Amino acid sequence: MDCSIYVHIPFCESKCFYCAFASFSNIENEQKKYFENLEKEIKRDKHTANIKSIYIGGGTPSFVDCNYIKKILDLLMKKYDVDKNAEITIEVNPNSINESKLTFYKKIGINRLSIGVQSLNNLQLKRIGRLHNKKQAINCIKLAKKVGFKNISCDLLLGLEKENFWLLKKSLRPLMKNVTHLSCYMLQVEDNTKLKDLIEKKQIILPNEDEVVNDYQRVIKYLNKHGFKQYEISNFAKEGFECKHNLNYWARGNYLGFGLAAHSFVGNKRWANAKTFDNYYKGIKELEEVLTKQQIIEEIIMLGLRCDLGVDLDKLKKLGYDIQKNPNFNYLLENNILVKNKNIINLLPKYYGVSNMIIEKLLN
Ligand SMILES: C[S@@+](CC[C@H](N)C(=O)[O-])C[C@H]1O[C@@H](n2cnc3c(N)ncnc32)[C@H](O)[C@@H]1O
Ligand code: SF4
Repeated sequence: MDCSIYVHIPFCESKCFYCAFASFSNIENEQKKYFENLEKEIKRDKHTANIKSIYIGGGTPSFVDCNYIKKILDLLMKKYDVDKNAEITIEVNPNSINESKLTFYKKIGINRLSIGVQSLNNLQLKRIGRLHNKKQAINCIKLAKKVGFKNISCDLLLGLEKENFWLLKKSLRPLMKNVTHLSCYMLQVEDNTKLKDLIEKKQIILPNEDEVVNDYQRVIKYLNKHGFKQYEISNFAKEGFECKHNLNYWARGNYLGFGLAAHSFVGNKRWANAKTFDNYYKGIKELEEVLTKQQIIEEIIMLGLRCDLGVDLDKLKKLGYDIQKNPNFNYLLENNILVKNKNIINLLPKYYGVSNMIIEKLLN
């Protein structure tokens, strides 16, 4: 089967104030045991797969010893049939990277970097607990290019404050000139994070939602105008640099996830590893489910309408749902909110921001 692989590295140098991902700091002595168990988990896997993409994410993969990454990648290459053109990504943070690590990654076959820039405003970075500054972020991109990476993505966060668009453009320019892909996320205030605590204590005041949406619309226009096409709600790429790994998620392709809290999806079966080290080591699953027909229909619509893959009407029909009979469908089509090309419908990107509302209408 064609498949992608996700490997989770749950270690970080420190925990950012907004982050609710399965990632932990100050537990460096756990790393050896974790990687031993990760290897065991991969060795135990029974799937035969032709691998189109590998994504080493976290946490902060660049924070751990490079040799751990090499060992895992070597094992995956040996065990599975990995395409020679497979997209192999690693997430790196500007404060835990240097030229020799980047050279090492390149040498072991990694061909795409996802750099956690988040912001190029030093005050904003400090306010959210990031350990790097603007200079380190720019330097990381420069080094990545120097060692020969051609496919570089940066993560950005919007909504940290009401943006001065002139300053934001000034920040975006050096990124657009040097990278091929940008993921721009609107900051979410998650439960059990330091950010939530700071907001409750009124020590951080975030802009209101309308202000953030307004900033986001301007960013989208600006990026589109400069050759970064929005191909999913939060993702922008130069032509040909769309992330294959994420496209496979949105197309509901197969993926195997290894490591703490990692999710897998094969056929219509989904499972997820435990979120604590002890339970992960014991092989306990946090989730195991076979999707129902209704869940599959909902996923096809939800994932397809949020990116430029769109929704295949025939696929839905085969599952027993003729979306064209939905009373809202024609209204959305006639008002150019949805566009139909042969059997594929797409949501116009300018409506991505309200996609939840539209999707709900199509599921009624
Ligand atoms: C799983 S994190 C790992 C990346 C890497 N460790 C880093 O921090 O740069 C992937 C991305 O999710 C985004 N993210 C994390 N928490 C978020 C939140 N509360 N709201 C919006 N985006 C968030 C950040 O942009 C981050 O780069
Ligand atoms: S945002 Fe990245 S570096 Fe920060 S705590 Fe989360 S995973 Fe770690």
